[in-house]
Amino acid sequence: MRDQAEKLREIINDIKSYSKQSASITAAPTPEARVITVTSGKGGVGKTNLTVNLAIKLSQMGMRVIVIDADLGLANVDVIMGKMSKYNLSDVIKNGKDILEILEEGPCGVRFISGGSGVQELIKLNKMQLVDLLMKLGKLDYEADIILIDTGAGLSDNVLSFVHAAKEVILVTTPEPTAITDAYALIKTISLKDSYKDIKLVVNRVENDKEANNILEKLNMVTEKFIGIKLHRLGYILNDNCVSKSVKIQQPFVLNYTKCEATKNITDIANILLDAESTTMAGSSGFKMFINKLSNIFS
Ligand SMILES: Nc1ncnc2c1ncn2[C@@H]1O[C@H](COP(=O)(O)OP(=O)(O)OP(=O)(O)O)[C@@H](O)[C@H]1O
Ligand SMILES: [Mg+2]
Repeated sequence: MRDQAEKLREIINDIKSYSKQSASITAAPTPEARVITVTSGKGGVGKTNLTVNLAIKLSQMGMRVIVIDADLGLANVDVIMGKMSKYNLSDVIKNGKDILEILEEGPCGVRFISGGSGVQELIKLNKMQLVDLLMKLGKLDYEADIILIDTGAGLSDNVLSFVHAAKEVILVTTPEPTAITDAYALIKTISLKDSYKDIKLVVNRVENDKEANNILEKLNMVTEKFIGIKLHRLGYILNDNCVSKSVKIQQPFVLNYTKCEATKNITDIANILLDAESTTMAGSSGFKMFINKLSNIFS
């Protein structure tokens, strides 16, 4: 007959092995990707160039990065990457392709999904098709550490859907007053639905860091005072000829001009983004969560 002490030892051993198991479960790498939507109020402020070059820089820093081109108007991530894309989302929707088959190889290990007509079709799907697509898209959580979504500009429902669905948003503006007022209008619209959105500001095409800081401070002051949202400073990119020269020859500037100012700025932005990980990753929603929110918006 077992005595009390033996029973107790058994219970303690069970507890020990249970806590070992749960520790190894907690320590296992999370399959959730960090989903970041890149957007702007005004068009042509440099979203696609930022998305592509930042993706490459993050990949060089050891991140697994996927770029999704969600620009309904002018999908051109592949053009800036300098890679022709064979497939796009509509191949998953219409032609039964698996999501992993349509992931295109970009430079430096970055992978991307081309927009094409696929994003427009996403909006027309019935519930069954949507569920099917979402399940396929959910696989991307296991494929990437960071998913960057390049959107079009402005306050259209489509752009806002992607902004609302992502936990983190990179908002791009230039120093032009029209770009700043359009950025403000976008922040105001975002805040109506989500007053806790993590909005990270990038000021593009500035003359110097003073100009960038000045814009951030002013924009932050009015958004805090009138909208109650505090923006996070992600960084700035100088107005740099290397950017337009690289667009012309379809080669990302971080690869083509490794020492130019814009490349240094992108490196700083990538570092801040990864530093911010410890704070923003708490309760990271992952791509599955993103896609759930997106489906609620579309349905
Ligand atoms: N830092 C920069 N310095 C110089 N030129 C720049 C810079 N950033 C962007 N540009 C110029 O602005 C153009 C537009 O950039 P981009 O296509 O990235 O903007 P966008 O916001 O994605 O535009 P859209 O709203 O049409 O999608 C580029 O082709 C380039 O010539
Ligand atoms: Mg663009």
